[in-house]
Amino acid sequence: MILITGASGQIGIDLADALVDRLGDNNVLVTDLRMPEKMRPGRKYDILDVTFMESVDRIIRTNEVHTIYHLAGILSATGERHPDLAWSVNVNGVRNVMEAAHNHKCRVFWPSSIAVFGPTTPKMNTPQETVTEPGTMYGATKVTGELLCKFHASHHNLDVRSVRFPGIISHSAPPGGGTTDWAVDMFFQAVETGTYECFVTEETRMPMMYMPDAVKSILDLMDSPKEDITVRTSYNIAAFSFSAGELAAAIQRHIPGFVCTYKPDFRQDIADSWPSSIDDSRARRDWNWSPDFGLKEMVSDMLKHVRLK
Ligand code: SER
Repeated sequence: MILITGASGQIGIDLADALVDRLGDNNVLVTDLRMPEKMRPGRKYDILDVTFMESVDRIIRTNEVHTIYHLAGILSATGERHPDLAWSVNVNGVRNVMEAAHNHKCRVFWPSSIAVFGPTTPKMNTPQETVTEPGTMYGATKVTGELLCKFHASHHNLDVRSVRFPGIISHSAPPGGGTTDWAVDMFFQAVETGTYECFVTEETRMPMMYMPDAVKSILDLMDSPKEDITVRTSYNIAAFSFSAGELAAAIQRHIPGFVCTYKPDFRQDIADSWPSSIDDSRARRDWNWSPDFGLKEMVSDMLKHVRLK
């Protein structure tokens, strides 16, 4: 059985669909803090709080789990408001999952983030190995998680794999509490109201990725032969970077009357401390990482889906 934690979140919904498509019915167990309002076919549901080791251990044991996609986590903006919660879920959660995975010989995927970087990291084409001195609690938890991955891989031969996701743009499930959420909100507000007040400045440029590519990266990484995986902290991956103003202009090509205004809030400082673009050559070399969607294709596809909603 495959276990997904945090399965009601932005990535979990789409990843579960992809895994069910691939593996057929009843091979994927999706868990979160509560049952979702709408159940989808082909998967089992359960409740799991990853901060409780006994619960993590029990769910793995009783369902004969062999692979874990550990997605439960608190994002950057929420983490700044609730640092204790971010530490508890992001650090204790990942530690519990890795220890249980070690005990039950499971493979693990865990998402890290561009938030491991900070103001002292080179901002353009940020290298795989570079300064990781984040200014946020979220970033601190992700750096810690990466080091736990490396520790378990080297000391316990645990096959844990990870990517540093940029902002992820999707239409199936909203992101919750991230600094890159503006890129998703802009689409929904453009279609629904024709206006959007963006919480970062027009010039703020951030690395982003469309959800189908995010899911593809997870599947490709997990499909790769173990000997090809040379990074056991977390791989840089990239698709495209754009500024808020550039995204607004790209949406205006489809919705000419769309008006975007800018009113930066506390998330601006977080955005400013993260890279503008990422060097993902190691992922490209080791497991042939390559995104399918460019900015133009992503914008057309997003608007098509958001309009249907
Ligand atoms: N998208 C995430 C956030 O903004 C980054 O990992 O928090």
